[in-house]
Amino acid sequence: MSPDRELRVSKIRNGTVIDHVTGGQALNVLAILGIDGSEGFGVSIGMNVPSDRLGRKDVVKVEERELSQSEVDVLSLIAPEATINIIRDYEVVEKNRVERPDSVTGVLSCPNHNCITNEDEPVRPRFDVVSEGVRCGYCSEIIREDIAEHIDV
Ligand SMILES: Nc1ncnc2c1ncn2[C@@H]1O[C@H](COP(=O)(O)OP(=O)(O)OP(=O)(O)O)[C@@H](O)[C@H]1O
Ligand SMILES: [Mg+2]
Ligand SMILES: [Zn+2]
Repeated sequence: MSPDRELRVSKIRNGTVIDHVTGGQALNVLAILGIDGSEGFGVSIGMNVPSDRLGRKDVVKVEERELSQSEVDVLSLIAPEATINIIRDYEVVEKNRVERPDSVTGVLSCPNHNCITNEDEPVRPRFDVVSEGVRCGYCSEIIREDIAEHIDV
């Protein structure tokens, strides 16, 4: 891209850049991280920006924040090509591709109102990742395409 067609956004000093996110999924990534802007740290998102690899991609940059394994696990379900870049002192110090996990714990809630994970019990929701989507480890309810609608924030 020619320099006069590029928009420069401030670099972040410390935090995480989630790159190569499936186009249109950036707001769901923020939901997985439980970020709504009230936290007070810098967040910038690009949606449907051109990408050599993906055609179009979203990018999410969050200051002062690293991701937990359960957040990365759920993220991999909605953005299977994502790369997680850890930024320290303005530089990328670590880069990881997400991997489809065998199961995800926390973050998602079970759509079955009668499921024990929706009662007042100290049970953390756990889902097995299956070919059709994710399956509740307690009641076997399956969440298919609409995984992002079941992010528990
Ligand atoms: N300090 C920073 N602040 C904000 N964004 C950054 C910073 N450093 C790198 N990035 C962004 O993080 C991502 C990864 O940076 P990197 O320099 O590894 O790019 P790359 O070589 O294109 O990586 P890849 O091969 O994964 O596409 C890019 O989207 C880049 O714009
Ligand atoms: Mg790149
Ligand atoms: Zn359930």
